[in-house]
This record gives sequence, structure tokens and C-alpha cells, in this order.
Amino acid sequence: MTNIYYVIIILFASCLHHIRCADNAPRPNIVFLIADDLGYGDIGCYGNTTLRTPNIDKLAQEGAKMTQHLTTASMCTPSRAALMTGRYGIRSGMAPTGTVRVCVFGASTCGLPSSEVTLAEMAKEAGYNTAVIGKWHLGLHEERYGDFKKHPLNQGFDRFYGLPGTNIKDFGDEGERIFLDLRPSLNKQLITLWLCIIVPLAFLFKAKFVSLLVVIIVLLLWSIPLLSVYWIVDNMKLLNSMLYRDRLIVEQPIRLPGLTHRLAQEAVEFMEESVMQGKPFFLYLAWIHTHTYLATAKEFEGKSKHGRYGDAVEELDWGVGRILEALDRLNVENNTLVYFTSDNGGHVEEKGLNGKVDGGYNGILLGGKGHGGVDGGIRVPGIVRWPGHIPKNTITDEPTSLMDFYNIVGVTTGTTQPINITLDGKNILPLLNGSTTISPHEFLFHYCGNEVHAVRYRPRTGSKTYKLVYRMPDYLPGTNRCDFFCGCHSARVLEKPLLLDMTSDPGERSPLPSSYPGYIDIIEAITGAVANHKSSIVPVESQFTARNLIWRPHWQDCCNFPTCSCTDPKYV
Ligand SMILES: *[C@@H]1O[C@H](CO)[C@@H](O)[C@H](O)[C@H]1NC(C)=O
Ligand SMILES: *[C@@H]1O[C@H](CO)[C@@H](O)[C@H](O)[C@H]1NC(C)=O
Ligand SMILES: *[C@@H]1O[C@H](CO)[C@@H](O)[C@H](O)[C@H]1NC(C)=O
Ligand SMILES: *[C@@H]1O[C@H](CO)[C@@H](O)[C@H](O)[C@H]1NC(C)=O
Repeated sequence: MTNIYYVIIILFASCLHHIRCADNAPRPNIVFLIADDLGYGDIGCYGNTTLRTPNIDKLAQEGAKMTQHLTTASMCTPSRAALMTGRYGIRSGMAPTGTVRVCVFGASTCGLPSSEVTLAEMAKEAGYNTAVIGKWHLGLHEERYGDFKKHPLNQGFDRFYGLPGTNIKDFGDEGERIFLDLRPSLNKQLITLWLCIIVPLAFLFKAKFVSLLVVIIVLLLWSIPLLSVYWIVDNMKLLNSMLYRDRLIVEQPIRLPGLTHRLAQEAVEFMEESVMQGKPFFLYLAWIHTHTYLATAKEFEGKSKHGRYGDAVEELDWGVGRILEALDRLNVENNTLVYFTSDNGGHVEEKGLNGKVDGGYNGILLGGKGHGGVDGGIRVPGIVRWPGHIPKNTITDEPTSLMDFYNIVGVTTGTTQPINITLDGKNILPLLNGSTTISPHEFLFHYCGNEVHAVRYRPRTGSKTYKLVYRMPDYLPGTNRCDFFCGCHSARVLEKPLLLDMTSDPGERSPLPSSYPGYIDIIEAITGAVANHKSSIVPVESQFTARNLIWRPHWQDCCNFPTCSCTDPKYV
């Protein structure tokens, strides 16, 4: 089936390509704007009445708002990998296998394999200027230090200005440590481990059972790894807070206040240059907001009604406004497709040292970032504006996926993937322009790590969308949250999977009884789809093995060694 679908797309796309070549109609520019950890309920057009997001709201009014827009994972690295490839992360090795569910260090091999065909590679092949500005978080080097095989410049982008990894709370100056949130007693555990060997050793030495030489050797062998762990946990800022311009570090550590202005500025310059060259452009702008550490420029500080989180949302909206303004000024707004979204839901457990909530709001949805199959972590804002192609004020409640953006890029640029790759994204343009009313996705698989925790099912008739839940996050008793992150492997396996009607119960509060009409058929359809999906997966190496995740000191980048500090000369 997939193959037939493919052939159709390819025929369709190559027709389009030829027609376009024949009448020389310009291909649209593409601007993709993605926020980090922004919740479903954080912006005006998705129901927030206390935060001001006029620019994002305007975008929705001038195009289509998707109310059931889903990411493939509730964490950034796997979600972005799927977006970049139009495929579930499991197909590229980008489905986490253990506790660590993101690439942690630029100086590691974790990242999107260079063999994957990214959407930027498609756009570039079609003659677009391509740029990634902001957060990358999909790796740098693949086989050896300096090969830059996973760097944006080797994954289809002509330019890069931004972070190799992600913003984290350690980048602030308040002494917050992400690892200590994950494991609050880590330092005590390290000291205990150290003492476990050192105390007996001291006794043995005193009783003259071992020589001084043995003591020194054991002391070193035991202390070095423990000290390294302690040092890494304490130095995440030194190891990861850096901005690259293409392959060079231009700033370390990052000055977070005002960074949104600079990202917008870089994006505007890229669009201006492309327009001047008369070339279509593909801009992938991955904002740092609204991930912690939350820092804004002075003029946004304390301006919102929701603390520094709210300030970040409002600065993000301002940034979106600057991009839209530039499209207007350059007279290309009618020939530019703009997509706005978030990589996963709001992080409901996130707090600052002062105990104040620093994470987003997911509206009526259950749970949040990291929670696996519940909607709070995977259902995110999704807005597409393409004047003349998508009618204003369109709203679709049908399930769509962030992976579908891949197909949008394919169709609008007139390119396609090599035929031997399984794509999971689908062309949703007919849904957005009103020529069909039903989602092309009959099934969507909600992964947590490398396992399917829930499945969405949109039968080809009727108007309902269902979800079958196999595993639920290990919530603290009586709550809908965990300590800091809900684990995937610790999620509860439900003896009897829950069937939910997502159309009338988006908050997942009332599972359907087995007496529900068609219950058995629905379960059977989903069970069959899961089996089909699983059989379509070709095993590949996981990017989340200890070997791939581990920090490699000899791969560490730093500007002006040994100070490891520099300031982008363009923005002094
Ligand atoms: C708006 O968003 C803020 C920040 O996430 C949240 O605290 C607040 O509850 C939301 N307000 C409404 C009315 O949805
Ligand atoms: C874009 O389209 C709108 C509505 O059709 C029109 O009012 C506007 O002038 C167009 N802008 C440009 C630059 O062509
Ligand atoms: C797909 O085909 C290309 C060209 O024939 C080949 O280089 C590539 O390895 C193939 N990929 C897979 C996943 O089979
Ligand atoms: C909707 O989009 C599809 C796919 O791009 C296209 O084939 C179709 O003509 C469009 N329909 C309308 C009414 O614009």
C-alpha cells in the first residue's frame, strides 16, 4: 500500500515539477517555526486568554489551525528526528532505548544518522536556499571528531546559526542543574560510592594488608570516574552552552537574554539575501523558547501575567511577528508557506529553584512533556498559512502529524524521497485546503522511547477519532504528574488497554466501556495496525546506547581554549 501511495506521490510531484518548469510559476518559500516545549494551551488561538500572542493568532486567522496536531514523541530529540525525516524515530535509530531520551552532549556520536534524507536535503535538491537557525539537537559528528557528518551543513542546510544541542536550565546563573532534577540525590550517591571503597581501603592499609602503591592506584582508579561524573553534572554549561555559525563556535557561553532578537535577525537576513538572489528559500527556525533556562530581553522581563515562562511566550510571539513582518516587507508573504508548531507539550513538572512553575500549560489535555502516549506531551499547536492555497480561518479537528510537514516540503518544492524509504508522513494539503474532510492518517502510533504506548485510530467513516492506551505514565498517587520526568520503561502496563473517544473526551478522563458499539472491531483494527507497523520496521543501531550518548572529552569543542569563552563579534 505504502509503495502505491509513493508512486502516486512521485508521479504527482513530477507532474507538478514539469508544469512548474513549463509555466515558470514560482515555487513557494517555506518558513518553519518551531517552539521548544510550548504547551497546547499557551497561546491565544488555542484558548489562552491571559498570555498575549497576537502574531501567532494572526497567523492562524490567515491560514489553518490544526486542533489535533501530534508529534511522534513527547521529547525533543526523537520528535525533531521524525520531523526532519518524515518517519517514526524508530526507523532511524532515533527512538530512545533507555532512561536518557535526548542527545546530551555535542561531543558524542548521538544524532540523526547522515544516511537519512532530511527535508532540507529535499529542498536543497529543488534549488532552495536552506538555513537552520536556533536549536539543532540532532548531533554533530558521526564517526570521528571533525567529520561534521551529523552537522546541519551535512544534512541539507546551507547555513547554521545556533545551538548544537538544547538550551537547559544550567545555562542560567542561578546554579540550577538538570541532572540534579532528574536525580536529586546524585551527589550523595557518588560520595557514598566513593566511601564504600575508600574506607575499607584505609583500614586495610592501616592493618598493613596493602601497600601504599596499591592504595594510590585504587584511589585513582576509583576516584577518576566518580569525579568525572560529578564534574560533568556541574559543568553542563561549559560543555554545551555555545553558538555556532556554520562549523565555528562564535559565542561561548551563550548570552541568553536577547537571543530571540538575534535569531530573528539572522532569519530575516537569510530571507532578504535569498529574495535578492531571486532564489526560493527554506527557513527552519527553531526558537530557544520556551525551554528552561527562561531568559528574555529586558523589554519582556516581568511583562506577562505568568512570570518568566509567560515572558518567554510573549517574546517568542514577538519573534514570530518579526518574521511575518519581513515576509510582508519583502513582498513574498503571498508566496510563502509558514508553519508554526512546538516539538512536544509543556513540561508540567518544571520548576525553578524558587519553586515557581517554569513549564507550559497543556489546557484540558492530560499530562505533558515526557509522558509518552497521553495527549499533553504530544498534542501541540499546529498552524499553516499559505495564501491562495489554504483558505483563511480554516480549522481542522482531524488528526495530523508533525511528520506531515515532510510531505508538504516534498509536494510544494516538487521533489520526493528515494523510492526505497518508508515514509510515515502524509500529504495533508488536501485536508487543509478543504478538498477532503478526513485525515489521511488512519493510524498514528504514540511512542515512548522505543515502545508504542498508545495508538490513535481515525476510522475511514464517521467523524470520531479513538485512542487505545496500552501503558500509562507512573504518576505520583492522586496526580497527573511525576517527580520531574515520567519514565517510559517504568510506565504502567495496563492489563486491559483503555479505549478513549478523543473526539468527545480530549482530556482522556472517561474510557469507553466494552459495551460501546463497535468496541471489538475498533480494538481489532488497532491490533492489526500495530502488528503491520511493527513488521515494517527494519532494525537499525540505536543512537541512544551508552556508547553513542557518552561524553567524549577529545570531541569537545571550545573557543579560545583554555578560557572557552568568546562573544559573537557581530552582536557585541
Ligand atoms: C495561559 O498560559 C499560562 C502559562 O502557561 C498558564 O499558566 C495559564 O493557566 C493559561 N491561561 C489560560 C486561561 O489558559
Ligand atoms: C497578497 O494577497 C492579498 C490578498 O489577495 C493582497 O491584498 C496583497 O496585496 C497581496 N500582496 C502582495 C505583495 O502581492
Ligand atoms: C535506497 O537506494 C539508494 C540508491 O539506490 C541506496 O543508496 C540506499 O542505500 C537505499 N536505502 C535503503 C534504506 O535501502
Ligand atoms: C488542495 O491541495 C491539493 C494538493 O496540493 C491539490 O491537488 C488541490 O487542487 C487543492 N484543492 C484546492 C481546492 O485548492
